[in-house]
Amino acid sequence: MKLILAVTQSGGISKEGKIPWKIKEELAFFKQMTLGKTVIMGRKTYESIGRLLPERNNIIVGKGYSSFNEALQQGLSVEKDGKTVWVIGGTMIAESFQPYITEAFLSVIHDEYDCDLFAPKYILDSLDVINGTSTRSTCAHLLYGQGEKYTVYRCFYTENKEERNFQNLIQSIVTEGVEHNDRTGVGTISIFGSQLQFSLENGKFPMSTLRKCFLKGIFEELMWFLRGQTDSEILSKKGVKIWEGNSTRQALDKAGLSHLKAGDCGAIYSFQWRHWGAKYIDCKTDYSGQGIDQISNLIQEIKTNPFSRRLLLSGWNVEDLKQMCLPPCHTLYQFEVTPANDGGSNYLSCHYYQRSSDILLAGNWNITSASLLVYLLARVCGLRPKKLIVSYGNVHIYNNHRHAVKEYLQRFPFEYPTLDIQGNHENIWDYQFEDITVNNYLHHPQISLGMNA
Ligand SMILES: NC(=O)c1ccc[n+]([C@@H]2O[C@H](COP(=O)([O-])OP(=O)(O)OC[C@H]3O[C@@H](n4cnc5c(N)ncnc54)[C@H](OP(=O)(O)O)[C@@H]3O)[C@@H](O)[C@H]2O)c1
Repeated sequence: MKLILAVTQSGGISKEGKIPWKIKEELAFFKQMTLGKTVIMGRKTYESIGRLLPERNNIIVGKGYSSFNEALQQGLSVEKDGKTVWVIGGTMIAESFQPYITEAFLSVIHDEYDCDLFAPKYILDSLDVINGTSTRSTCAHLLYGQGEKYTVYRCFYTENKEERNFQNLIQSIVTEGVEHNDRTGVGTISIFGSQLQFSLENGKFPMSTLRKCFLKGIFEELMWFLRGQTDSEILSKKGVKIWEGNSTRQALDKAGLSHLKAGDCGAIYSFQWRHWGAKYIDCKTDYSGQGIDQISNLIQEIKTNPFSRRLLLSGWNVEDLKQMCLPPCHTLYQFEVTPANDGGSNYLSCHYYQRSSDILLAGNWNITSASLLVYLLARVCGLRPKKLIVSYGNVHIYNNHRHAVKEYLQRFPFEYPTLDIQGNHENIWDYQFEDITVNNYLHHPQISLGMNA
């Protein structure tokens, strides 16, 4: 259920049984949000209004009206039909319904008014977060709208437990981590061995809500892998510059790949996924028909031998490691098909192993990319995505990213968005960015972090 309240900056909601301000625009906002919907109010609020709210399904809680339980059951059954239920106050009713409130729309009045009744504690806490006087991540808010005399914030109270686990992993690196000198010379703090799990059911798509996710970059990189491409310029031309740093002239020379031209990443993921065992010449060579096409084989196996325990995709080709500008970080993917018990199509899950993760910069990127791979494989194999598991080897935070840790940890994780894929292409690598749509993506602002190549 959703709560809608108008409050002063200090949380006041009324004085002597009446709201002490009259802001036409704000009343119109309340009307626009609640019209045609179910509204639940306390007896005292009802009496202060003096009538039922027109064109809304009014539920009043109090003696002679509905009991709390009746109102709750009625509200939950309306919500079950996919309709919105607004709890509209006052304080007692907002308090009683707190365990069922997933979000609140707070109109914060700019001028201060003398009040004798204040919003319940969880709303006062939200105001502290909005006013910047508290960084406790018990809720998150987004600016929703503005009038001349008020600002509307949308506050969320349902914590995303999976992304909270991601934050807990960051916290454990900070508290338990060991300092290391690393190949970049920047230095890290790291732990060895950890696991995260994400549900992919019902369209759920783990895409970072703690900072804005560059979905186009993730999509184009995955397609670049699936198409067997190793030329970073192909990605750069699409505005995705993530492989530039590892394939500069200097980086290639340092990796012993002086024979490759700048931008050529060598025999990385893409080459291993599509042409394992072929001889790598350069990124311009046509390798059609050469080597083992792990992606086509995997799709064929999932379709014809779905319950196999050998549905694997490996990037760690020992023989080719010296031919890569960067050896694979996400080295091994295992897929599992599980039977559906609801008469629908079977499920596809994935467990992947990441030997090394720059968790703040790329941790979420890799999780979203692997999730997208599961969605695309499920699409071409007629399955439903179910679960993603990632097991980590070395998980680290670079010393020059440490400033961002506090910001990362104090942010409240929103619910993950959902993903829709349109179109039915013959090959998994034929999908285009326009074929995918992400819905209800709420996120905190970007946190800028440089890549250490
Ligand atoms: N600023 C705003 O946006 C806003 C919005 C709404 C209201 N208000 C103001 O808030 C004031 C009223 O708030 P309020 O907190 O005093 O009262 P209220 O929440 O409107 O109503 C309280 C009454 O609701 C019933 N109730 C509440 N919780 C219950 C429970 N768990 N089980 C059974 N009954 C329950 C009780 O009725 P009985 O006593 O009959 O048992 C209780 O006395 C008014 O002055 C109104 O103007 C302001």
